[in-house]
Amino acid sequence: MHPWAGNSGAVSRTALAAAICHIVGASIRLPRLRPMKRCIPGMRGGPFWAAILLAGHLLQAQTPTPISEVLALLDSESGKPKEPGRELTIRGVVGARLVLPDSRAIALVLQAGEPAVQVFAASAATLADLMPRNEVTLSGKLAVGPLGAGLELKPGSISVNATNKPFGASEPRGADFLKDASSLAGRYVQLTNVTFVDAKLDASGLARVKSPEGVEAMLRVGKASAGREVPPGAQDVFGMPLKTPEGWQLVAARFLTVERKELMALATKHTCITCHNPDMKLIGPAYRDVAAKYRDDPEATAKVVAQMRTGGSGKWGPIPMLAFEGKVPPNEMQRLASWILGYRWDSVLAD
Ligand code: HEC
Repeated sequence: MHPWAGNSGAVSRTALAAAICHIVGASIRLPRLRPMKRCIPGMRGGPFWAAILLAGHLLQAQTPTPISEVLALLDSESGKPKEPGRELTIRGVVGARLVLPDSRAIALVLQAGEPAVQVFAASAATLADLMPRNEVTLSGKLAVGPLGAGLELKPGSISVNATNKPFGASEPRGADFLKDASSLAGRYVQLTNVTFVDAKLDASGLARVKSPEGVEAMLRVGKASAGREVPPGAQDVFGMPLKTPEGWQLVAARFLTVERKELMALATKHTCITCHNPDMKLIGPAYRDVAAKYRDDPEATAKVVAQMRTGGSGKWGPIPMLAFEGKVPPNEMQRLASWILGYRWDSVLAD
């Protein structure tokens, strides 16, 4: 048996301490190597152990803690962290991001299929890199945020590892689940087949939607959406339920028309999707990027239809797009254009 292995075969603490003491003593050439029996008790409470603990602590702060472990450190009932001030690093995909009316911002970060942890900062600018579908690594400390316990972001600690990462499967739900969404808190949910109650979004950062049966639900859409026309017709809203002082709300990350399967079939028929994908750049740009570029442009539909009719290159790179004039009927071009531009909400909701 190895000299510092205990009877059970496990490394005993005293033996390990002796070994470390021995190795460190030798490698840093202490002027007077103390005998082992004096070294062990001396080290126990000494600065050496403090240094080891500190190194371990720093290492722990840099290695991402699984999000499930971070959530276990938060008391969802009281909305407070169990160890306030503890510093942690996490890695996950941004599920939704929201600027609150007082300019503070929160983001919900998750690992696919798991509940999300809330990340927050006093200013929206600090969270600017937390775009939905970005995979990020970031550090912060456990604290109480504007909407409950989470991680208070350490400025400058965000690194974006990958963009357009999927969130994992979403759970389709009708509007009534928001009456009590405890069982789905922080999960990525699809609120299916709802329509907006008001024609425009206001400065409250909230929007009302209703199901075909007339059940209403509240969405958090953030400040940047104020003054915008709501998406027309039946929508699926993707986002995360969050308990707020006003009750359960869905922090919206994406609005997609219920008709999107039909439109995808139309785009397939016209070969658009051999070069385009809604979320990923292929030969042509991702539709969500096209939509983000035109999100505040009142001429957007006309410009996108013009691209379809005449094709051409230079807006996204040197590769040209074919002309579809005479191949795609004008009404279908209009429908494809409003579907593509519907992805602008990805960037509006993240603002
Ligand atoms: C052969 C590949 C190919 C096909 C097929 C194709 N596109 Fe494109 N598309 C491109 C490329 C490349 C660009 C970038 C052009 C540029 O840089 O100006 C582009 C750009 C676009 C844009 C952005 C326009 C802008 O103003 O920024 C839209 C919208 C678009 N395509 C829609 C469509 C639709 C709808 C179809 C099907 C009817 C389609 N594309 C078929 C390759 C293609």
